[in-house]
Amino acid sequence: MTEIAGRIAVVTGAGSGIGRGLAVTLAKQGASVAVADILLDNAQRVVDEINAAGGIALAVHCDVCDRTSVNTMKAAVTGALGPVSLLFANAGATSFEYLDKMPENDIDWIVQVNLMGVMNCLMAFYPDMAKARDGHVFATASAAGLLPAWVPYHAPYSGAKMGIIGTMLNLRIEALEAGVGCTVLCPGGVESGMKDNNARYRPAQFGGPEEGGVKIPEGFFQAADLHFRPAEEVAELCLQAVRDNRALVVTDGSMRQIFTEGYVETVTAAFDYVDAFDRSRDDAK
Ligand SMILES: NC(=O)c1ccc[n+]([C@@H]2O[C@H](COP(=O)([O-])OP(=O)(O)OC[C@H]3O[C@@H](n4cnc5c(N)ncnc54)[C@H](O)[C@@H]3O)[C@@H](O)[C@H]2O)c1
Repeated sequence: MTEIAGRIAVVTGAGSGIGRGLAVTLAKQGASVAVADILLDNAQRVVDEINAAGGIALAVHCDVCDRTSVNTMKAAVTGALGPVSLLFANAGATSFEYLDKMPENDIDWIVQVNLMGVMNCLMAFYPDMAKARDGHVFATASAAGLLPAWVPYHAPYSGAKMGIIGTMLNLRIEALEAGVGCTVLCPGGVESGMKDNNARYRPAQFGGPEEGGVKIPEGFFQAADLHFRPAEEVAELCLQAVRDNRALVVTDGSMRQIFTEGYVETVTAAFDYVDAFDRSRDDAK
């Protein structure tokens, strides 16, 4: 069981939404928190809020797409707070667009920020935890990775988020051997700043920031109603899951049926198909 109090935690994308919820709740539960974000002003606002409530926090600039920036952030955090034993690789950005209409820059950005952003953070922080046989790595994927058919026109994002789920569930095997906890979060709908601010998160190497939020293409539909949970409520669920070292966390119980119909049945049908193929070959012998 990983306790939270007294630990040093890093949360990426902590200037807003789920990351802010995690940072504030970690501090409330007694951790010292590095609030890392590509938008330093937002990170500083969250730190001010934590400090005003009596918590310990540090604002750090970081672009998770850039490995050098992640390593610089790590050096700043360990220098100021000490060795990190809780990583929340949470930063991300989204996009809804038909793949054949999506600019290459945006495809690269969405894959880099979501998938490589998590990988870059794991590479920076996981080895020290494995060496110390202590700590917990946590990454934010999405229900769009767990249920790729849930939201349309979302291919690079779904792919990157499914990549995070695969990365974390696979890493969990060796992390358990190394005495390190490992959890992946697949949020459904959570109150956050993405809808209004997403375009502001695009780093210079992918075309730079623009004003505005998420653009929705014509004909957009969603397979289920979204219930938006408050980020701090989600953070409480996540920190309990860290204590319990759960493999996977979802935030919306009503999505169980979409999982069964959209994923379990698709995969089961693929197994049935290969079984039928093998039977037909046996019959032909
Ligand atoms: N809110 C939801 O309903 C929902 C659903 C599924 C998945 N998610 C995932 O949750 C995570 C948090 O998003 P949120 O919903 O809280 O949105 P948000 O827009 O409120 O927060 C995202 C934060 O990430 C930061 N960020 C973006 N790119 C960055 C980069 N390159 N380096 C460092 N920081 C960067 C932003 O500045 C922002 O503070 C994301 O990974 C997102 O994909 C959210």
